[in-house]
Amino acid sequence: MTPLETNSMPPASGHVPVMLPEILANLAPADGEVFVDGTFGGGGYAEAILRSASSTLWAIDRDPDAVARGAILAARYPGRLHVIEGSFGDMLTLLQARGVTQLDGVVLDLGVSSFQIDDPARGFSFRLDGPLDMRMGNAGPTAADLVRTLPEGELADMLYRLGEERLSRRVARAIVAARAEAPIKTTAQLAGIIRSVVPRAKDGIDPATRSFQALRLRVNDELGEIERALQAAAALLAPGGRLVVVSFHSLEDRIVKQFFAAAAGRAPAPSRHDPRGLAARAAVRFRLLTAKAARPGAAEIARNPRARSARLRALQRLPRLPADRPEVTT
Ligand SMILES: C[S@@+](CC[C@H](N)C(=O)[O-])C[C@H]1O[C@@H](n2cnc3c(N)ncnc32)[C@H](O)[C@@H]1O
Repeated sequence: MTPLETNSMPPASGHVPVMLPEILANLAPADGEVFVDGTFGGGGYAEAILRSASSTLWAIDRDPDAVARGAILAARYPGRLHVIEGSFGDMLTLLQARGVTQLDGVVLDLGVSSFQIDDPARGFSFRLDGPLDMRMGNAGPTAADLVRTLPEGELADMLYRLGEERLSRRVARAIVAARAEAPIKTTAQLAGIIRSVVPRAKDGIDPATRSFQALRLRVNDELGEIERALQAAAALLAPGGRLVVVSFHSLEDRIVKQFFAAAAGRAPAPSRHDPRGLAARAAVRFRLLTAKAARPGAAEIARNPRARSARLRALQRLPRLPADRPEVTT
């Protein structure tokens, strides 16, 4: 089955996989290979990988609902799909504990699934009223906990850094004033507070968008997770192995772009006089499969508006080269 045929099938789940043909083209699964899908979600990528070659797939998700969906899919691919509940930032230890030390490919489809954002009970959406939770898993403080406890200055910094909210101080002040009156427990309450102090932009974007993004990133330590996962994936890839990442906003994509550039020796040229820089260049073991981020086409965006901000980047560990042989000295 070609990737396009796979993508044209109706989704088996409520989440429509983003850029699936491009994922498969870059991951290029082959029989006998071993992969990690660090963001199982609705299993769209996972199933396509399993169908496209007789491969083994380790699927990770921190959301117990996604893991439960994974168990159903695993029953259809006995011995080939293994589902792990955990964070992809911990993939090194999660896999080592299961005896997996080398991979032919890793895929990450960052952010939340439609299952999560469309469920008011999960508290991710400012469009749907629900408890102010935003956790992908079950552990750690909720968004309501942060909104209740963070000092005003820390709230403002978080909204500015993770939400790129220019009016972060104004929003933080409004939150602190509101919480002094009554606890902020729901998404509608928080969205209302933000909308009362941030004017609606000309492009129609809801004034709560940036602050909700900041809280979600902070609650789930999403940027820290990406950094840890990229390091782990690079360490786990066998020669020739592929790493494919889809991100949905500039903060995520910046981390991926910079990591890939450094891994492929595309970081700013080291000084001729700095032996550490030259040594780092000589040790390059990866190449970029995507010179710049790939974007979804107009047809995909029309079919699935959630794809519109997707950016896909892919990196390959170089195949073993003759130069990898131990140097013979005479
Ligand atoms: C965009 S969805 C993935 C959709 C999937 N590619 C598909 O085709 O159905 C992202 C998923 O990754 C999970 N996730 C996000 N960050 C995670 C992390 N740090 N560790 C593990 N899972 C994570 C979320 O819980 C969510 O289920």
